[in-house]
Amino acid sequence: MIVLLLGSGGREHAIAASLAKSPLLTRLIAAPGNPGIAQHAELRPVAAEDVAGVVALAKAEKVDLVVVGPEAPLVAGVVDALAEVGIRAFGPTAAAARLEGSKAFTKELCEKHGIPTAAFRRCRSAEEGHAAVEAFGAPVVVKADGLAAGKGVVVATTLDEAHSAVDHVFTGGAGAEAVVEEFMDGEEASLFALCDGTTALLFGDAQDHKRAFDGDEGPNTGGMGAYSPAPVLSHALIERAMAEIVRPTVAAMKADGAPFVGFLYAGLMVGPDGPRLVEYNVRFGDPEAQVVLPRLKDDLLELMVAAVEGRLAGRKATFRPETALAVVLAAKGYPGAYQKGSEIRGIEAAEKRPHVTVFHAGTALENGRLVANGGRVLSVTAIGADASEAQMNAYSAVDLIGWPEGFCRRDIGWRAAAASEEG
Ligand code: AMP
Ligand code: GLY
Repeated sequence: MIVLLLGSGGREHAIAASLAKSPLLTRLIAAPGNPGIAQHAELRPVAAEDVAGVVALAKAEKVDLVVVGPEAPLVAGVVDALAEVGIRAFGPTAAAARLEGSKAFTKELCEKHGIPTAAFRRCRSAEEGHAAVEAFGAPVVVKADGLAAGKGVVVATTLDEAHSAVDHVFTGGAGAEAVVEEFMDGEEASLFALCDGTTALLFGDAQDHKRAFDGDEGPNTGGMGAYSPAPVLSHALIERAMAEIVRPTVAAMKADGAPFVGFLYAGLMVGPDGPRLVEYNVRFGDPEAQVVLPRLKDDLLELMVAAVEGRLAGRKATFRPETALAVVLAAKGYPGAYQKGSEIRGIEAAEKRPHVTVFHAGTALENGRLVANGGRVLSVTAIGADASEAQMNAYSAVDLIGWPEGFCRRDIGWRAAAASEEG
């Protein structure tokens, strides 16, 4: 099969590495890719969200399957545009991608189908927003509707903070909408499902670290590290989340005429009443893919084809029991302003450490030198018998990477490591 992979992050490098192991693969093309992905694929300079460019490339290369990494092309309808020219894609249509693209859509779906999540109000004006804030009281969560790369959410501990968050959403101008919701207490974890429109197969679980600095301090980022499995998610909790949240969602999407095909990523809050939905993403997580996919024992491409063909009923995805842990190396300044172009050394040495893979995200090759070219630049994944061992293996590799202009957290996996030390 000829496969075209869209995206250029660490997630897509992890997907490329898994696809490359498949005996079904004859050629892997990536657009736009990065130097790490280039170890497994031919790169083409087409942006992932350039829908017309992607369709033209897929046609020209006679691609059998397009695998979509990030959410932007999905929400923009790349899967629909490919279907129109008869090319199959792994990922949801624009209608199904509303599960991530519109928080209001997802909250209303949950309400209609009794899926456990925070109580909410959809607000179309600042006045409605302020009234909702008063009704819930602090702490309360204010979210801008639409894709905001994680920056559209304010968890307000005081009413003042909540009211100014509402004002902020509606200074955005025409069409602005806010969702104001109840604050849920608990521990966050992520569950992944591989979906074929009808069936949702459990596809691993993970926890990430969203804050920039040690101790879960500092601004929110796309994710500074992750590990899989997540100790907080027992088998029983996973079964409940699949039965009460994921499967009813997949059934509702199908009943509404927008069957969900692809990876469904459920962000969960695990509290005293069990798992509740925080949000959906309609693609794999980054860096969660870098810890879940290295544990996968099955052929990823074969599973993706089965999903696209609606053949997942009765199947199971199997994972190694060990823990995988990823440390993200980011450019100093991230998630704010940062410099590009600094040289990165030592990746080969890091990859010689046992059970270590270095996934590229924002890297580029400049006159034969590997340089930083983005905010999140590398993710160093290691496998270990438990979280403590995976953490040790990962940091022993991180310490071999020479990149003074970068930084990483030194405490990725602290929760899981504490759990594994307790036994
Ligand atoms: P979201 O973009 O909806 O995932 O929100 C980003 C982050 O805000 C989540 O990962 C949670 O840490 C936090 N968050 C969102 N909604 C809630 C809620 N209702 N209660 C508590 N925390 C929340
Ligand atoms: N790491 C969070 C995400 O991929 O959305």
